[in-house]
Amino acid sequence: QKLEMELDAIEKGGYEHFMLKEIFEQPRSIADSMRGRVRADDGHLQLGGLRSYLDRLAASKRIVIVGCGTSWHAGLVGEYLFEELARINVEVEYASEFRYRNPIIKENDIVIAISQSGETADTLAAIELAKSKGALIFGVCNVVGSSIARATDAGAYTHAGPEIGVASTKAFTAQVTVLTLMAIAAAKSKGTISEEDYRQLLIELENIPSKVQQVLEKAEKIKEIAYIFTYARNFIYLGRGLNFPVALEGALKLKEISYIHAEGYPAAEMKHGPIALIDEDMPVVFLATKDSSYDKIVSNIQEVKARKGRVIAIITEGDTLIPTMVDFVIEVPKTHEMLVPLVSVIPLQLLSYYVAVMRGRNVDQPRNLAKSVTVE
Ligand code: G6P
Repeated sequence: QKLEMELDAIEKGGYEHFMLKEIFEQPRSIADSMRGRVRADDGHLQLGGLRSYLDRLAASKRIVIVGCGTSWHAGLVGEYLFEELARINVEVEYASEFRYRNPIIKENDIVIAISQSGETADTLAAIELAKSKGALIFGVCNVVGSSIARATDAGAYTHAGPEIGVASTKAFTAQVTVLTLMAIAAAKSKGTISEEDYRQLLIELENIPSKVQQVLEKAEKIKEIAYIFTYARNFIYLGRGLNFPVALEGALKLKEISYIHAEGYPAAEMKHGPIALIDEDMPVVFLATKDSSYDKIVSNIQEVKARKGRVIAIITEGDTLIPTMVDFVIEVPKTHEMLVPLVSVIPLQLLSYYVAVMRGRNVDQPRNLAKSVTVE
């Protein structure tokens, strides 16, 4: 018994839960997912497993991304990246929906399956279906040699290391990192990115681990905010552009481990429904970093404040406007707009972790959830 407890403590590396350990591992796991693949000083970018397929990726007319849960959210980030950088049309599908339709797959379409475990039954079945229709399939998996990794034609591993906490954290940022590399590589090969933008993205990618570290150093402040909202019954998360999938992921994290009802929405959709829910008891988390939709987000915040919602805003360091409008801010360092999800998701992971701990939840093994869902 004692030995077991000691082993458990060693495995958690001094952290109270695997989830917290995994959140704090992200500077390293993101770096590991880029290791040997990116070198900004000489413009090197290569994903070994995809090397001989890069031309086909760049030439593809459409990419269909399939996944479940958090992996599906990473896919949504991928959609913005591939469209914006490589100008390739992307559709993101829940694997479970894709597999039971009669999806249209054409020549030159590429399917990208995303899965941490590489064992999710619906994702595996989606791959088999796409295969039977003749699609070329890439995998973005974390577990080496997993069923999905073996079922795909090619792929790139995420190298996040083992993820034990049921709620996915470091696997998500590793997935987004790998999708970013794929999108930049496709853009470069296709010529849809300028040399300067390319260099800038690689430089900023190399800076991401230290920027994530800077966000982690805000853990105490995030804990204090979490304390204030421990007994909230609902939460809304809002973001635009690349921060929209981050809003979905933030809401999912909170639901999974604290059992608080939370919804993520594109901020502009708020007026088509969620705004009816806003009153003084409703916490609203805004992803409000300084990027191309900043002004729009500012007006969305005003709309929520006018209805007495309580706003927690994730902002870019140095922003002096939003702090005057909202109840709480959490700053993240500035980065390239395409890379923002890698830093903006971190405070949301910590927020849900601390809320769940304060509510006495079993953070690493939430009720009714499994780490990998190998049944339908
Ligand atoms: C389960 C897990 C989630 C995960 C999803 C997809 O629901 O609890 O954390 O995002 O499966 O898993 P995968 O291993 O395919 O990424």
